Amino acid sequence: MLEKLGRNLPCWCGSGKKYKNCHIHFDEELEALEKQGEEIPTHRMIKNAEQIARIKESCKVNIAVLDAIDKIMKPGVRGDEINDLVNEVTYSMGAIPAPLHYEGYPYSVCTSVNSQVCHGFPLKSRVFKEGDIVNVDCSSILDGYFSDSSRMYCLGEVSPARKKLVEVTRECMKLGIEAVKPYGHLGDIGAAIDAHARANGYRVVDSIGGHGCGIEFHEDPFVSHVGEAGTGMLLIPGMIFTIEPMVNAGGADYITDKKNNWEVYTRDGKDSAQWENMILVTETGYEILCW
Ligand code: MF3
Ligand code: CO
Repeated sequence: MLEKLGRNLPCWCGSGKKYKNCHIHFDEELEALEKQGEEIPTHRMIKNAEQIARIKESCKVNIAVLDAIDKIMKPGVRGDEINDLVNEVTYSMGAIPAPLHYEGYPYSVCTSVNSQVCHGFPLKSRVFKEGDIVNVDCSSILDGYFSDSSRMYCLGEVSPARKKLVEVTRECMKLGIEAVKPYGHLGDIGAAIDAHARANGYRVVDSIGGHGCGIEFHEDPFVSHVGEAGTGMLLIPGMIFTIEPMVNAGGADYITDKKNNWEVYTRDGKDSAQWENMILVTETGYEILCW
């Protein structure tokens, strides 16, 4: 159910126009779809032009941070060096690293190596070595607007099995993005990702997923990386969310470190890879905001 608004009140989108002269028709169409049994997004999930512009500025910071990380991801790089570089680049651009203190998270970036699925700590004692596959997950806040994306790095010579996992996971993300269509469904994304992972003998983590992002770090909707095409929430122009499949070489099960309650590992100790981007649903398809 959409929030009800008086016809003469300012539109929820922030245009300053009266609701009756702005999104009232848009809302009526959404409500008609809801009556037909579709799940529709809330107003909060649909960003206006100004919000989109500001979120894009935040995404530029995130891209710059990851571009700087690209240059240091070589065998021998330590977690704390990555964390320091994230701080340096982010603050120099007038932004704040979103992970720091987020629900008590103690660092500015997540670095997840090999069997780590996500939320790995960028520790000084963690020296990444030749043959490792490392996900670096960066998130920025610029003028109150959030961005979130991650890349995988293969350090030096990496085994063919690891290289393939990283490549297939990237393909999974890409297929997930390409499944995004205005008035399509959220389930289309997960279906595309899961099918490609399974075709390669991999399994997708299902209870950690993508999310709306921009006004807050983690917003609704939850973006599952497994799913059924044609099901789930309708994708409406103006929605911004991440697609960030975690793909495991073995089983989909994972465990969370009992001591720090953050770092996530595959249960079977096999490798895991992840890529993350942020996309905007547009009238004609999608726009990739950061990656
Ligand atoms: N960047 C992660 C994501 O993709 C979230 C990390 S939460 C943190 O959603 F606290 F670990 F940063
Ligand atoms: Co994310």
